[in-house]
Amino acid sequence: MRILSGIQPSGQLHLGNYFGAIYNWVRLQNKGEECFFFLADLHAQTVPYEAATRPGIILELAATLMACGIDPHKSVLFVQSQVPAHTQLSWILSCLAPFGELERMVQFKEKSEAAPHAVNVGLFTYPILQAADVLLYRPDMVPVGIDQAQHLELTRTLAHKFNNRFCPADAPLFKEPKTLHSTTIKVLGLDGQRKMSKSFNNYIGLTEPEDVLWEKLRHAATDPARVKRTDPGNPDICNVFSWHKLFSPIEVQEDRAAGCRSAAIGCIDCKKTLFTHMNALLAPIREKYHVLMQRPDDIRDALEAGAKRARGVADATMETVYKLVGGL
Ligand code: TRP
Ligand code: SF4
Repeated sequence: MRILSGIQPSGQLHLGNYFGAIYNWVRLQNKGEECFFFLADLHAQTVPYEAATRPGIILELAATLMACGIDPHKSVLFVQSQVPAHTQLSWILSCLAPFGELERMVQFKEKSEAAPHAVNVGLFTYPILQAADVLLYRPDMVPVGIDQAQHLELTRTLAHKFNNRFCPADAPLFKEPKTLHSTTIKVLGLDGQRKMSKSFNNYIGLTEPEDVLWEKLRHAATDPARVKRTDPGNPDICNVFSWHKLFSPIEVQEDRAAGCRSAAIGCIDCKKTLFTHMNALLAPIREKYHVLMQRPDDIRDALEAGAKRARGVADATMETVYKLVGGL
């Protein structure tokens, strides 16, 4: 099976990204699927950003992905802007895309309502570029969060429109890919209220130093009923406990839950245990990340090698596309 997915370089990756996407990417790669993963730097240009810091952010994201287990020898790992075919196909598809359908995109509505004076055309055509990202490689499956379902639906619509309009009935060029929502786990932020996100500043970064990790956990929201050490708490409504379920072995979870209900342990004890198990997962990622970041040229080389492989596939698709649409 061929798998493709992308992620925007917009800042540090956090636990929400890890359990929502990366973990699943690594699993698919290690199952032996043919994987294409890219850094969607062109998509990240649709909102205001600092050009001077962008190259660093791209390298850091690539290093984090590799530290989490994306192996550039197994997967094709590349940067979107290093494969010009993405923007080329995006134009062709934009001439097939119904304006009204783009106006209905939830993400566009949310982002443009959030900053009504900063709405650029790129934000509007964002889903067309995403369709191009996907269709170029003819993947079977696209693993994404549920918030991307509508964009993938448009991707299938555009594939279908292109095939109908330009291809012989028995030889459609584009494949309508399936969306893979898998077992994406929803991770709440430090506030215990909203989903973990950079924009809410309630996240735990994957490569944060140990002391920062502990400070964040120390202040993380718990069951609000448990204000004093002597009040019993309820792990079922405590966000810290939901993290125990992701990181701690089952015996530890049971022990901490019982200790919470009987007020035998304090929240700080409970968080210390969580810290130990969370750090057991994050420490190797953090260490590998720092080793990789000491040799940024090696990361650049790995990405360039990935882009070269991606261009091989994408440019061949474009050659066919230009012929089909009536190029000379
Ligand atoms: N829009 C996606 C997101 O914000 C990122 C993305 C861009 C993507 N192109 C893609 C995901 C193609 C899957 C396939 O998460
Ligand atoms: Fe949450 Fe643990 Fe405190 Fe119970 S003891 S409220 S599970 S942090």
